[in-house]
Amino acid sequence: MFITFEGPDGSGKTSQMAELAAHLHECKFDLLATREPGGTIIGDQIRAILLAMENQDMHPRTETLLFQASRAQLVEECIRPHLAKGGVVLCDRYADSTIAYQGYGYKVDIKQVRAIVDFATGCLTPDLTLLLDLDVEEGLRRRAGGGSINRLDAYELAFHQRVRDGYLLLANADPGRWVVVDADRSFEQVQIDIRQIVMKRLGQPARS
Ligand code: TYD
Repeated sequence: MFITFEGPDGSGKTSQMAELAAHLHECKFDLLATREPGGTIIGDQIRAILLAMENQDMHPRTETLLFQASRAQLVEECIRPHLAKGGVVLCDRYADSTIAYQGYGYKVDIKQVRAIVDFATGCLTPDLTLLLDLDVEEGLRRRAGGGSINRLDAYELAFHQRVRDGYLLLANADPGRWVVVDADRSFEQVQIDIRQIVMKRLGQPARS
């Protein structure tokens, strides 16, 4: 079972995924929890290039391709082998991040973006995608409250609004795969929802 977490910056998906991963470990699932960009030695090097403040002049197509390079490595080195042995994979961002950020956010042609995303993933699609949806300004406020600011955080507000709208379009177009979770609630409440959704898909009763 391949489960991805998506959402705008500051939606809390990274900490929510970590909490879910701890729960699935306790339930003895054979779990791989990983993230994008990165997740492999090669991918982490690509991540450093993508996030470096000195790379302000990076063209959107360059950025799009670097994300795919990181992803292709992660899919082949980690995700496919783990799924092949029947494990559960949790991934913090995946192909839909490229459609939302580079496609809708940066307005790179969606058809072209989809084609290179499919090339990078070998068309490996998640079984379940959780969209942690949050008002854009609230997300940026939360984000500014903690951690250092990186090059990708510096995108303007309108960009983030297009990203959020893009995510919602994707989710509405494929309700069999996507579940939208309202992230503008307490951490605990959001986690309860996420656990219920995931345990149901895994065919397990949700335990608190
Ligand atoms: P990161 O610090 O991991 O942010 P977050 O905790 O919000 O995931 O930085 C990743 C940034 O890269 C984030 O702003 C989203 C962006 N991104 C893309 O633009 N395209 C992609 O394909 C991926 C995977 C991420």
